[in-house]
Amino acid sequence: MAVMTMATTIKKMETLSVRSLLADSDLTLDDLKLLFDLSERVKATPGEYAHALRGKQLAMIFEKPSLRTRTTFEVGITSLGGFAVYLEHTKPRLGEREAIKDIARNLERWVHGIVARTFVHESVLELSANASIPVINALTDLYHPCQVLADFFTLHEKFGDLKGLKLAFVGDGNNVCHSLMIQGAKLGASVHVATPPGYEPKPEILETARALAAETGASIETFHDPIQAVAGANAVYTDVWTSMGQEFAAHLRNQVFAPYRVTKELMAAADSGALFMHCLPAHRGQEVTDEVVDSPQSVVYDQAENRLHAQKALMLLLLRDAHV
Ligand code: CP
Repeated sequence: MAVMTMATTIKKMETLSVRSLLADSDLTLDDLKLLFDLSERVKATPGEYAHALRGKQLAMIFEKPSLRTRTTFEVGITSLGGFAVYLEHTKPRLGEREAIKDIARNLERWVHGIVARTFVHESVLELSANASIPVINALTDLYHPCQVLADFFTLHEKFGDLKGLKLAFVGDGNNVCHSLMIQGAKLGASVHVATPPGYEPKPEILETARALAAETGASIETFHDPIQAVAGANAVYTDVWTSMGQEFAAHLRNQVFAPYRVTKELMAAADSGALFMHCLPAHRGQEVTDEVVDSPQSVVYDQAENRLHAQKALMLLLLRDAHV
């Protein structure tokens, strides 16, 4: 039986402008379009890519728990013909047993790429700075680019062109919110964010997103009133009120964020065809009610499925030329 080669599945000219994906701002608009296009092809004909990363190995370093990210990267690389090694780093955290640069300099001798979920964003930067192989950010305290790649791919499937689309993010100005603002601005999609006072996205990331939006015609706005933020929105997105590592503040946060719960009344204030989005895991009854997350407007499991396809596209483009 003939083995499908890379040449038949991805064109040589189809390359990303970056070696690694560390932050959303690394990706150009052309990169995003290529990733969406390849995600579509990988999703439609997965068998064509079954051997595309044959012989490639991936190290997966996780300082935090994961269902979606771990599963989709492991299943993704396996279904491309490669192999993943899971390295749990909850205890000790990265850099405690040995220097991060030594971890990078060891791994680059054995594997073709590193997927890393860390608390501190600088940890993925340090891995990348010291490794000759691609590093993929699988969530840090600042960004969650793989999640948001899948999210905008999902919106692209549902709405087509993303330019002019409006997404409202309601809740904590966290890593997912940051990634939505940056990728949205690049794509020409407006992102309106509603947070309680004191929980806004980081000012420097807001500034970057607004500068990018000025070039694409998108608007990146912040509000404290969720009704104002969702007005006319094509999608309403929320995330947990207490991110991993902030559990000590959960009691206070549950009180502060209560007016920001996504209910059917809040969804009714958005566009009539608005979709509900969540990166998951969801805390049902906290940031979103059961009836919203289980409603026909909800695309949360489409987002989760698309993690697989979008990350396969990303790995295909980043790992095909990686050498040990
Ligand atoms: N959305 C997301 O990253 O899920 P996990 O934490 O389960 O990987």
